[in-house]
Amino acid sequence: MAQRTYGIDFGTSTIKICRKGQGIVLDERNMIAIADRNSIIAIGNEAYDMYEKAPANIVVSNPVRSGVIADVSNMTALLVHFMMKLSGGKKPGTADYIVATPTDITEVERRSFYELISRSSLKVGRVKIVDKPVADALGAGLEIMTARGVMIVDIGADTTEVSILSLGGIVLSKLIPIGGNKLDESIKGMVKKKHNLYIGDKTAENIKKQLASALPTVEASVQVYGRDVVTGLPVLMEIHSSTVYEAIAEHLYSIVDAIRIILERTPPEIASDIIDSGLYVTGGSANIFELKGLISKETGLKVNICEDPANTVVNGLRRIMDEEPLSSLADSLRVKNLID
Ligand SMILES: Nc1ncnc2c1ncn2[C@@H]1O[C@H](COP(=O)(O)OP(=O)(O)OP(=O)(O)O)[C@@H](O)[C@H]1O
Ligand SMILES: [Mg+2]
Repeated sequence: MAQRTYGIDFGTSTIKICRKGQGIVLDERNMIAIADRNSIIAIGNEAYDMYEKAPANIVVSNPVRSGVIADVSNMTALLVHFMMKLSGGKKPGTADYIVATPTDITEVERRSFYELISRSSLKVGRVKIVDKPVADALGAGLEIMTARGVMIVDIGADTTEVSILSLGGIVLSKLIPIGGNKLDESIKGMVKKKHNLYIGDKTAENIKKQLASALPTVEASVQVYGRDVVTGLPVLMEIHSSTVYEAIAEHLYSIVDAIRIILERTPPEIASDIIDSGLYVTGGSANIFELKGLISKETGLKVNICEDPANTVVNGLRRIMDEEPLSSLADSLRVKNLID
């Protein structure tokens, strides 16, 4: 066993890294800026600052898409840079890594997380993989080693993962390609349609954070800058919460449908546990106002929005590293088959 152990949540919008005994040590945008197709000019939050502002020779992109690694070479480069940043600019010494991966992906996609680390230029001891919903539930402070069923819904940036857990394992899990990014995209489209105003992704995300509500009960507005589609000139315009609701409602209902589908397939004994404790919502998009109201209205279940929802997965990895009885969760049978 190497001296250091790191836990990594490769999120679509943010990468979170924790270190055994030290807690979360990195939380940055999972973005890379490349100039002239070959030189890395910025990573993480610095690359995000360049997004939508860079000249044509600089490409700013996310190497993780829909919860899986879409661009292996850029993700590897990002990881190595982040690990060097954590080690004060030097190559870190040998370390073990625990990575959280979605459950409902192919074996090839799961293996790519493992290979990304083991084939990188980092000095790697052992690499273990944990099912993301398991880490998620642990990070939410739930007891998952018992025979009591738990339902966890992680609404991130590109994905929503709905899972049922019992006895430390996954009973059911479904990953759908809907998350905060889809909401941003729809807000952008709706603002263009209603106001003839072209806004950037960052502005759309800011509008969402301020005005998005899962129920049409909020009355508020914000002023944003954009480009008038007709005149081509920059203008300041007021966007109302009703426009935002109209844009995002269909996606929120798709998330509710995914929850319903999983509930319908849940074994009855586990379903009764879920009725008792309610379902748990995590992921950055769990911050959307009135989400609790919408999901409980549509499913009839009690809904718990977890504290610090964007960090539940990485906090779960931290627990797996720090709490000895949980360490076996990083070594499930499926993963043993994969790694051995
Ligand atoms: N206050 C807020 N209101 C609404 N959405 C928010 C808020 N804060 C963060 N978000 C959204 O949460 C998302 C990021 O969440 P998270 O960090 O869980 O995603 P991720 O792990 O990177 O993505 P994924 O799990 O899909 O790979 C973004 O879409 C962001 O806009
Ligand atoms: Mg996530």
